[in-house]
Amino acid sequence: MTLDLTDAERLAHLDLDQLRQLVGLVEHDATTDPFPVTGWDALVWDVGNATQSAHFFMSAYGMDLVAYSGPETGNRDHKAYVVASGAVRFVLRGGVAPDSPVMDHHRLHGDGVVDVALEVPDVDACVRQAREQGATILQEAHDVTDEHGTVRMAAIAAYGDTRHSLVDRSRYSGPYLPGFVARSSTMRRDPDATPVFQALDHVVGNVELGRMDEWVDFYRRVMGFTNMAEFVGDDIATEYSALMSKVVASGNHRVKFPLNEPAIAKKKSQIDEYLEFYRGPGVQHLALATADILQTVDRLRDAGIEFLDTPDSYYTDPALRERIGEVRVPIEELQRRGILVDRDEDGYLLQIFTKPIGDRPTVFFELIERHGSLGFGKGNFQALFEAIEREQARRGNF
Ligand SMILES: [Fe+2]
Repeated sequence: MTLDLTDAERLAHLDLDQLRQLVGLVEHDATTDPFPVTGWDALVWDVGNATQSAHFFMSAYGMDLVAYSGPETGNRDHKAYVVASGAVRFVLRGGVAPDSPVMDHHRLHGDGVVDVALEVPDVDACVRQAREQGATILQEAHDVTDEHGTVRMAAIAAYGDTRHSLVDRSRYSGPYLPGFVARSSTMRRDPDATPVFQALDHVVGNVELGRMDEWVDFYRRVMGFTNMAEFVGDDIATEYSALMSKVVASGNHRVKFPLNEPAIAKKKSQIDEYLEFYRGPGVQHLALATADILQTVDRLRDAGIEFLDTPDSYYTDPALRERIGEVRVPIEELQRRGILVDRDEDGYLLQIFTKPIGDRPTVFFELIERHGSLGFGKGNFQALFEAIEREQARRGNF
């Protein structure tokens, strides 16, 4: 079986070679996979003000408004804006009715990801497999239909209040899901500009102390995911990183889930801070893949997005220079923007992290440009966590 493009990737004019480079896509035989996953369907966020969050993602992250649901379309509970960039789709939901469940989620967790929705070719088979393996089925397989066709959907529970909707939209041609109408924005765009980011590389979950292996096992058992090589143990992560991390991925590597748990350290770890302010496990960061991270960072900075600082010592350290070798731009270009570099036996990657995007010190973004490396920047953990800890100290949580 050969790899195929998803509809979203085709719409974004991406090809397989680009995706191999952007997100490390690999060949996979789905016929023997108990829970085949095609790719990401959408990231659904519950936020305090979806109208303004949608504007933020359009004005700062260059995303385009594509669909909408709200009181005007018969949804009296909440407003939901669907915004897209490249093959990535975010759905931003904000409560309208004071007793909306969206409001409850926001009250407890702040702005956060409620649903990491996955596109699957056979929803019923996935639900069967999930049930057999003891997963919590939040929503049985069912059809939703409108004049654009039928979507088959179900949902299973993941860590904390996070869920995975399973979506088969192969018989549907509407802008998102039944209940949504196509909608665009009057925001002016340079028609020649490339998207700020093209694809979603990975979504990281923070779970409680001692629960990481349980969730790794969940994704392996229920969804047939496999472990990727990257592993951060307490042996290298005691003083600064104070976390343990393992990565599981779908067969084709489109969907990659690093899972973190806090590790015991001298000071409160960034994972503990997240768990305290999110009130439990949840999505920590989303890594957005770009083919030109320098341009992406420049555009985001011009739009007022703030990134974590990287100390100059990171770039002048002879050991780092030795380790990373030659990359596609002079290191001074990276230093000027605070972009980090990591290298492994397969190649290298460039990455940078934003500050938390909401009011709580919880969810943030990573920008990543891969050049062969299938890693996640393990070599940068120490430099990165020193920077995070400076921010934590400024908030008085360290
Ligand atoms: Fe990451």
